Amino acid sequence: MRLYGDAARPEKTGQSMAPGSHFGLVRQHLATARNITVLTGAGISADSGVPTFRGADGLWRHHRAEDLATPDAFERDPRLVWEWYNWRRELIATKQPNAAHLAIVELERRAPAFWLVTQSVDGLHRDAGSRNLSEIHGNIWKVRCTACNAVDENRDVPISTLPSCSQCGALLRPHIVWFGESLLAADLEQCSTVLRRCDLLLVIGTSGVVYPAAGFAAVAKEAGAFVVEINVDPTPQSSSVDVSLQGRAKDLVPLLLDPI
Ligand code: OAD
Repeated sequence: MRLYGDAARPEKTGQSMAPGSHFGLVRQHLATARNITVLTGAGISADSGVPTFRGADGLWRHHRAEDLATPDAFERDPRLVWEWYNWRRELIATKQPNAAHLAIVELERRAPAFWLVTQSVDGLHRDAGSRNLSEIHGNIWKVRCTACNAVDENRDVPISTLPSCSQCGALLRPHIVWFGESLLAADLEQCSTVLRRCDLLLVIGTSGVVYPAAGFAAVAKEAGAFVVEINVDPTPQSSSVDVSLQGRAKDLVPLLLDPI
């Protein structure tokens, strides 16, 4: 399945509610769930100071993510695309996991079965200590050869704006799934498994407009999971999840760990 965006904005968000009123219910589900899946987006790292893609600070030199994170953009102007990733790398290199990342690690420690699916590419979940995770859109600290496909970790900041493969010399690209590209089959399969088997799905800090991840809440709900969204703003999913909590991830996710 390919990555694609959908500009649709929510028309009604009737089930969004102040956090306090439904925390008890969510904590009850957390306490009894045998299988927990968490889906995060760029908003999970907003409280660490990493800009999201669609927020007010989402533009870079007047370019939108959708115009830069594409194979066409890279083919046309690889230097420009690398400059954008260099800007993000420089920013992310100075950032630390926040309280929400750490609370997700604690959820993983407590849950009988747990899987984290993230669209975030900054690596902060891994830095925080999450282990059972799929970085479905890739990782900004990895590079891939455009010729031989070798994947390597590269933490250079800044990285050369036209980096070359140490094995074959061809141009390297970020190891990120761009718009129009397919998620790895193994990641999609793992997502399908953990979405269908979970009792509880937490959807945190994602605008819910980029597919296939935007369809994951519906898959879990249809399979019988209780679905909770945490976001500072309403999203297109807010009216179809079981509980939509509005607020910052760093404030709300740790509160879920409190006893019932
Ligand atoms: P977006 O930038 O589209 O959305 C970020 C979401 O986080 C928005 O819904 C915000 O309201 C929410 N948010 C912001 N600050 C928050 C906070 N402190 N606490 C909770 N929520 C907060 O990011 P994604 O949904 O991840 O793809 O976007 C999906 C994909 O599109 C990204 O993975 C990226 C992008 O282009 C690639 O780079 C391939």
